[in-house]
Amino acid sequence: MSASASVHHFLEVDDLSVDDLNTVLALAQRRDWPQVLLGRGVALLFEKPSLRTRNSSEMAVFELGGHPVTLKADEIDLDRREPAADVARVLSGYYAAMCARVFDHGTLRNMAEVADVPVINLLSDTAHPCQALADLLTLLERWGTLEGRSIAYVGDGNNVCNSLLVAGAMVGMEVRVASPAGFAPDPVLVARTNGVVVDDPAVAVEGADAVYTDVWASMGKEDEAEARRQAFAGFTVDEALMARAAPDAVFLHCLPAHRGEEVSAGVVDGPQSVVWRQAHNRMHAFRGLLLWLFS
Ligand code: CP
Ligand code: NVA
Repeated sequence: MSASASVHHFLEVDDLSVDDLNTVLALAQRRDWPQVLLGRGVALLFEKPSLRTRNSSEMAVFELGGHPVTLKADEIDLDRREPAADVARVLSGYYAAMCARVFDHGTLRNMAEVADVPVINLLSDTAHPCQALADLLTLLERWGTLEGRSIAYVGDGNNVCNSLLVAGAMVGMEVRVASPAGFAPDPVLVARTNGVVVDDPAVAVEGADAVYTDVWASMGKEDEAEARRQAFAGFTVDEALMARAAPDAVFLHCLPAHRGEEVSAGVVDGPQSVVWRQAHNRMHAFRGLLLWLFS
């Protein structure tokens, strides 16, 4: 239970209803907006590094008239200096919302349970819902509608993959995942989202409207990088794999990209890539989410 039952947290995309998700995506496309955060602050806590999430979130808060305050791991030391729940109780008194990038998704749950203001997931071990909002926004801008489209996610069944499965199911997209054995997303989540998982990238990508990949070793798993390079051999999204997708298919990547590993330079820097628009859409999508929360 949240400290206040009326507080709306955003820990995974399906914390929104389908209607709410469509509203957020519509708000994200507005090019004028009310100053819904005027005179208020938003806390942004980071247990891990960030380029896109920190900068896009700070700027979205600023655009809405608010004051973003970023707190890095060593300043807060969540669950070591004091429990995450105590941090949430304290920050609830200062801020309109608190956003956090954490190692353990449970940290966000502990915060949401006691917070009097919305808690927003800026990436955890199991979900990256703000990324998925930007992913949908990017595809929506490109196609006009999302229902009935297909997307192939090639690589690690990680946080980004999970949120894509959830978001894709909500908007009626077919999400196909190709992962090596041992790196597929949780079968319970896959079943709940009607996802398809295969171990052959060519099968997943065949005729797909979009192809998506992410790093093979996520933040916190850097010590597994070499073992993962071997496990993911054959899972690089390169020109030959993209040629199997629909002729006008787009390529997405949440970034940072490792050219020569999960994606070839020719694909990420090539004509089908929409990764820069996707990165810029992190700001528009986050502004849409804040507009929905505070309008
Ligand atoms: N895509 C994304 O979340 O990037 P950062 O890790 O740089 O925030
Ligand atoms: N799966 C990656 C996403 C980075 C934005 C990670 O967790 O590091």
